[in-house]
Amino acid sequence: MNDLDTIITQDGSHTLFSKKFNQIYHSTFGAIQESRRVFIELGLEYAIEHFSEIKVFEMGFGTGLNALMTAQVAQNRHIKIDYTTVEAYPIAIEIAQNLNYDGLINSNDLLKLHQQDWNIKDTINQYFTLQKIKGELEKTIFDTNDFNLVYYDAFAPETQPELWTQEVFEKVATIMVQGGVLTTYCSKGYVQRNLKAAGFRVEKHAGPVGKREIIRAIL
Ligand SMILES: C[S@@+](CC[C@H](N)C(=O)[O-])C[C@H]1O[C@@H](n2cnc3c(N)ncnc32)[C@H](O)[C@@H]1O
Repeated sequence: MNDLDTIITQDGSHTLFSKKFNQIYHSTFGAIQESRRVFIELGLEYAIEHFSEIKVFEMGFGTGLNALMTAQVAQNRHIKIDYTTVEAYPIAIEIAQNLNYDGLINSNDLLKLHQQDWNIKDTINQYFTLQKIKGELEKTIFDTNDFNLVYYDAFAPETQPELWTQEVFEKVATIMVQGGVLTTYCSKGYVQRNLKAAGFRVEKHAGPVGKREIIRAIL
C-alpha cells in the first residue's frame, strides 16, 4: 500500500502527506517557500557568514528538497558543502521522480540525490557531497562531531514527541561544533526549552508566509 500522497502547496511546489504519520512534509502555504526561509535563509546564510566550509546535518531527508536547494547554493556560489542526512522511511523513487522541484528552481539534481546509494558519501556537483544514512536518528551512531549547520526537519512534536526532547537535542549537540547553528520550523515553547536545556541559545525569527515564528538555535 502506498502510504504517501503527493499534493500541491500554495506556492505551486509539491509536498507529501504521510498516512502512516498523518503528517504533511512541508507547510501547505508553500514547500519551497518554507525550505528557503527556514533552512536556506536562516540557517545556510548564517553558516556561510561564519564558516568557510559548511558541514550540514539534516534530520529527515524526505523529499530531498532541502538538500536540492542547498546543492544549488553550493554550485552557484562556489561554496563547499558536505551534507549528511538521516532518514528512517525513504520515499520510493517513483514518488521522487514526480516531485516538481527541479522545474521550479531551475535545477536538475533531484533524482540524482534520490538515486545515490545509502550510507556512502558521493559527489552531486563540484561543490556538494552527499551522504544519506538510512535509519532512525535516535539509533544512529555518528563518527563525526564537526557539523556547523543542522536542519532540524522532523515531523511535528505532536506526532513524534521523541524527536524533540532535551535528550535528542543533546545528542545533536554532540555532533556539532561550538558556535554551530540549528534551524527548525517548530517554535513550540517546550521545543525552545529543550533546546536551551541541551545548551543552545535560542533566537526567534519571522517565519515564511503562514508561520509567525521559526527558530534559530546557536550552540
Ligand atoms: C517533516 S518531514 C521532512 C523531510 C524533508 N526534510 C523534506 O524536505 O522533505 C520528516 C522526515 O523525517 C523522517 N523520519 C521520521 N522519523 C524519523 C526518525 N526517527 N529518524 C530519521 N528520520 C525520520 C520522515 O520519514 C520524513 O521524511
